[in-house]
Amino acid sequence: MRSAQRPVSSNPVVFSPYDYQVHEDPYPVYARLRADAPLYRNDEQDFWALSRHADVTAAFRDPGRFSSANGVSLDPAAWGPQASRTMSFLALDPPRHTRMRALVSKGFTPRRVRGLAGGIRALARRHLAAALRQDTFDFVGDFAGRLPMDVISELIGVPEADRAELRRLADTVVHREDGLFDVPQAGMDAALTLVGYYAGMLADRRRGAAGPPDDLTCALLAAGIDGDRLTDDEIIGFLFLLVVAGNETTTKLLGNAAYWGWRNPDQLAKPMNDPARVGAWVEETLRYDASSQIIARTVAEDFTSHGQTVPAGQRLLLLIGSANRDAAAFADPDRYDLDRDTSALISFGAGRHYCLGASLARLEAQIALTEFARAVARYEIDEARAERVHSVNVRGFAALPMTVQVR
Ligand code: HEM
Repeated sequence: MRSAQRPVSSNPVVFSPYDYQVHEDPYPVYARLRADAPLYRNDEQDFWALSRHADVTAAFRDPGRFSSANGVSLDPAAWGPQASRTMSFLALDPPRHTRMRALVSKGFTPRRVRGLAGGIRALARRHLAAALRQDTFDFVGDFAGRLPMDVISELIGVPEADRAELRRLADTVVHREDGLFDVPQAGMDAALTLVGYYAGMLADRRRGAAGPPDDLTCALLAAGIDGDRLTDDEIIGFLFLLVVAGNETTTKLLGNAAYWGWRNPDQLAKPMNDPARVGAWVEETLRYDASSQIIARTVAEDFTSHGQTVPAGQRLLLLIGSANRDAAAFADPDRYDLDRDTSALISFGAGRHYCLGASLARLEAQIALTEFARAVARYEIDEARAERVHSVNVRGFAALPMTVQVR
């Protein structure tokens, strides 16, 4: 049925998340995977992969069979039973995951996220005003890359004076050298410095030293369920997880929105002419080109699908980017269309590990792009100088130079 949609190639499909051609455009190989190898095996890199929307969604919803205990990233430094030391509850299964997420959710509430709107708008305006003072600027380096870490700092109560340095450290943590697919030494060092900073901040709060009275850090210290509380190590681990999970993904979402809007001027005209349509710009970008493309799981028990059995212990990739382009879930999926129903998008995962920061990411993107559309009448991207990140799971731009005409 699916393969009837296009001719089946006689060559078996090959998929490597390390392939630069895949980073350039993964969607043709995803289409082949969905059609010809919906449960794909890569012997050389020792992983399996699911690519259809129904399969990816079902796996996200089944933490009993698809475990997060070895982490969720292919990066060798992030994979293994020690993953929760750097990835906190992202790399835990129930019941440990359930306990920690419940405690953290006492502090990370929808009300707290909504309360950040004014601060996000002020930050967006400040970074945008500085960018627009130049004829040509880098949408990622000068704007989209500055916002998310500053928002996380605001959320957890980092003093203004320290925020630029924390942004620099966070950038170093996630930066990958071309051709190198593991965490470089500078990234390890920056991670240690960041963890040390958070440890100091927590110790200050415990001593009652001055800080914003109602920040997330204080709320996490106070959070308790039936006498159970988070330890300092758990809080520090969670603060670090926010940096890893909430920073680059949001930056890349903004860059992808600017890029695909520019490539599709008839669609871009909608939010540029009517701020009420910015939400649709955000949602369709999340679906069309998700910034988090691949999440890994460990198969906890033998699992059979599409006529093959994956033995327990094997690594299984859930291809979010592919699921979002599955014609079984979205009509004409390769069209960037701000009028479509995007409710089935899987960009924030599903089930128990569903992105804790999804509403914050949406709020940030909504505000940042609204401010951009208010200030800018039209823009041109210098595609020849745009640079993609080469990451196994994050998709988006490291640099997106543009020339703008302000309103
Ligand atoms: C466009 C931006 C974002 C995308 C695409 C994204 C994507 C995801 C995905 C796919 C997961 C599920 C991982 C899994 O199932 O293993 C996840 C989990 C998570 N995200 Fe996000 N995220 C974004 C922004 C954020 C932000 C802004 C924050 C917080 C500041 C955040 C915090 C988290 C946390 C804490 C988890 C772990 C949840 C758990 O394991 O229970 N994310 N994110």
